[in-house]
Amino acid sequence: MTTLTVNIAETPSNSYPIYIDNDDLKDLKYKLDEETKNKKRLVIFSEKVYKIYGKILDFKKSETFILKDGEREKNIKNYTKIIQKCIELKLSRKDIIIAIGGGVVGDISGFVASTYMRGIKFIQVPTTLLACVDSSVGGKTAIDMPKGKNFVGAFYQPQAVYINLNFLKTLDEKQYKSGFGEVIKYAFIEKTCNHSEYFNLLEYLKENRGKYENRDNEFLSRIIEICLTLKASVVAQDEKESGLRKILNLGHTFGHALEEETKYKRYTHGYAVILGIMFIFNYALKNNLCDKKYYDEAFTLMSVYGYEPPCLCLINKKRTLNYMKTDKKSDGNTITLIVPTTNGEVIEKTTTDVEFDISYKK
Ligand code: NAD
Ligand code: GLY
Repeated sequence: MTTLTVNIAETPSNSYPIYIDNDDLKDLKYKLDEETKNKKRLVIFSEKVYKIYGKILDFKKSETFILKDGEREKNIKNYTKIIQKCIELKLSRKDIIIAIGGGVVGDISGFVASTYMRGIKFIQVPTTLLACVDSSVGGKTAIDMPKGKNFVGAFYQPQAVYINLNFLKTLDEKQYKSGFGEVIKYAFIEKTCNHSEYFNLLEYLKENRGKYENRDNEFLSRIIEICLTLKASVVAQDEKESGLRKILNLGHTFGHALEEETKYKRYTHGYAVILGIMFIFNYALKNNLCDKKYYDEAFTLMSVYGYEPPCLCLINKKRTLNYMKTDKKSDGNTITLIVPTTNGEVIEKTTTDVEFDISYKK
């Protein structure tokens, strides 16, 4: 087992451990029971995860809430339903919520935990690769509004994160690939994360491509450890995104806008992030912010992991641009972009108009 710690400099009491292992899921249940001993709890599952793992994890039905699958379920109606369930169970501030699922379950459960009785504890048990490498750590919790993704939310750190690699075996190809979108993101921001150790994730991903398809445990465990070490380091320095943490949004300004424009139906979150990274590399090349060698290296990495730029012919540019302007990093009129410059480094740029170009320039 590997244990990492998110050490929040400004508020040390918000610090917490991340456990990574591939133990039997019965052991995970035992650990969760131990950690929540003498507490009432609400366990929130995504529907698919409950179908596959409900029996083996064996929580009481009365303490379980099942959230339907899909980004569209991260909404205010479900938020209210979960709050009602907390009230029904008479959860007090001493009690706890456990989120078992991908980023959708983690985000909405965390937001409930941050607001119910002005805040009760919660534990993240991420079951998608994307949630393992990114969303379960860092304390961003949210629900979506019709006008925008993650429009209502809070920074609220979990009490602990339990990552078990066994969950990743049942992920379908689309979701597995989506998680890799966020992994690749870390390769392009690694140096700016300002962490004392240099992993050279870019090189590691290139060298170990052969281990991707069969979901090699050692490979996945190493990748999760590197991504979360980098994320923990950034969150420790800037918990509430007043500066450095913005770099974790590489690819997200365009990615989120594409997700919204296509009503969350065409692209998974991680895939949209990859398209956002292709977009921003084109912006960087065109504006002489990165050289052609690095640009080629980036597109080659994305290509060997199976990402080729699709046609954006059906995307409405005006609407998508507006979505970019209402992104939380932007001010309504301008667009804030995180731009790659050289190996593992990014800078922040502000602009008013952008070209929707994600194609690879030979
Ligand atoms: P998701 O939560 O929608 O899960 C994808 C699908 O996989 C769902 O149908 C789910 O039931 C299924 N699934 C989950 N685990 C499974 C397993 N082990 N086996 C089989 N199926 C499984 O998608 P996601 O990619 O995990 O998360 C995306 C969400 O995360 C978005 O809402 C995004 O905004 C959010 N996010 C948040 C942060 C953050 O910092 N809070 C960061 C990145 C993304
Ligand atoms: N995924 C962006 C963040 O956690 O800040």
